[in-house]
Amino acid sequence: MKEKLIQIKEEALLDIENMKDLEELEKLRIKFLGKKGELTKVLRDMGKVPKESRPVIGKMANEIREDIEKEISSSKEKFKEQRKMARLEKERIDISISQEKLKYGHIHPLMKTIKELEDLFMSMGFSVVYGPEVETVANNFDALNSPEDHPSRDMTDTFYITEDILLRTHTSPVQIRVMKEMEPPIKIVSAGRTFRFDDVDDTHSPMFHQLEGLVIDENITMANLKQTIDIFIKELFGKDMKTRFRPHYFPFTEPSAEVDVSCFDCKGKGCPTCDGTGWSLELLGCGLVHPKVLENCGIDSERYSGFAFGMGVDRIAMVKYGIDDIRLLFENDMRFLKQF
Ligand code: FA5
Repeated sequence: MKEKLIQIKEEALLDIENMKDLEELEKLRIKFLGKKGELTKVLRDMGKVPKESRPVIGKMANEIREDIEKEISSSKEKFKEQRKMARLEKERIDISISQEKLKYGHIHPLMKTIKELEDLFMSMGFSVVYGPEVETVANNFDALNSPEDHPSRDMTDTFYITEDILLRTHTSPVQIRVMKEMEPPIKIVSAGRTFRFDDVDDTHSPMFHQLEGLVIDENITMANLKQTIDIFIKELFGKDMKTRFRPHYFPFTEPSAEVDVSCFDCKGKGCPTCDGTGWSLELLGCGLVHPKVLENCGIDSERYSGFAFGMGVDRIAMVKYGIDDIRLLFENDMRFLKQF
């Protein structure tokens, strides 16, 4: 019996040393110390041991049980610690890892164009002013001499908020605000968003941008207007760019004109981009401020005259950067925007 106990002890201690994890260790505990375990079996057979040897064998068996239990428990601790360390290692946050570098954005090509236009006009002596996007019908149409039956007043052309309030259809109401506030001489530009019920295509958007210009002084003529536009186009697009003034009608200017610039690709020779015309997109409308508009704003039309222009900033950006579809400017596709 003694030999058997020693053999169990040696076997158990050796096995404990070779255990790989807590699960194996538990199986080992059951194998030796469980109800049907090897040591338990031996203890159950104590009855067969001669009476005088029982205390010694019993003591020995208990000591061996304690030894095995002690070893199992210290091995258990070791595995628990290992498991904890592995978990901690897995959960570790390495605060030394550098974050992905912040990507800097840049100014949108449209805002860049507005800034460039404002800078250019400031260098020509203009001041920059701003007007609201939500306007009165009075400023957007009435004071601008727009006839009651003008098609642009129609609900199908303009976004009305109430009968008297709308989203401005052009930047021209800023002219009214400025002329009511300031005494001539006046020389301002004003850029911002404008809104029209226009169908979307590659050159039209229901929300687009305009830059308005207004000059009021004594003896202002069409020659001043033509020269200003010509200088501005050449400064913006290059000296070899030509401008074309086509007669047009605006209720708030007389005479009125629309202005085209020579095609950017062929510089006026005619190419597929301009359908062989040599002229690029229609960029702006302009004219001499109608005397009625001056009077509506309390300016003496006998003494003062002036010119005004309103250009499509989106179209200018398109010509400047060779963008063939206005929608690209509003889709916020980084692949497109990154190019500017
Ligand atoms: C006007 O809006 C006049 N207020 C311009 C003006 C100002 C004339 C001062 C005389 C004196 P027009 O509707 O033509 O005019 O628009 C001016 C420019 O805005 C156009 O030449 C074009 O470049 C641009 N534009 C017009 N509609 C759209 C649109 N839906 N999408 C993009 N650009 C547009």
